[in-house]
Amino acid sequence: MSKRLAILLSGKGSNMETIARNCAAGFIDASVSFVASDHSNAMGLEKARALGIPVLVLPYEEKGRAGAESCLLERFKQEETDLLVLAGFMRILSPWFVNQLRGKILNIHPALLPSFPGTNAIERAWKAGTKITGVTVHLVDEEVDHGPVLEQEPVRIDPEETLESLERKIHNVEHRLYSRVLREIASGNLSILGGKKQA
Ligand code: GRF
Repeated sequence: MSKRLAILLSGKGSNMETIARNCAAGFIDASVSFVASDHSNAMGLEKARALGIPVLVLPYEEKGRAGAESCLLERFKQEETDLLVLAGFMRILSPWFVNQLRGKILNIHPALLPSFPGTNAIERAWKAGTKITGVTVHLVDEEVDHGPVLEQEPVRIDPEETLESLERKIHNVEHRLYSRVLREIASGNLSILGGKKQA
């Protein structure tokens, strides 16, 4: 049966948009049940609405993290959602929440973890003068930008590379890689049962 994905974002939502379009086009055998954000004015929510996807604003301000996460979990269950896809979500999920959905939460990070976890990873890799960085898709555990790696793709930093050109390269890889991993999971070629990648 076709999988149901919920997507969590805080910003632009370019990954969400690509995933949603790839679901609609049948490249990923799944549908997006809803898109949630901690910011009511996130650009990604506008994009979701334009695509006809239901959106949910999480009440972090009014109810704090515990209240916001309960609200998210309730909707996740109500909609019989299979996977929670983090795409630029800037809050840290609590250990309690991660435990409720262990093995069902994915994240994308714009570096080759375990290198450059945390924010501004593209810029930090560029400034550090590394020759190769990349993109990681992983399962989420209690630590930030940590958990079993599902897929990685390297990106070379050329001698003339500007931060802007590197960001473009990374985002292009992200869009391709996230959809590819979700396609594999949805088609049953990649099993992540029990929170571990299984061949
Ligand atoms: C991406 O670079 C992703 O790797 C990081 O946040 C960014 C989100 O971009 N976690 P967008 O909102 O999908 O455009």
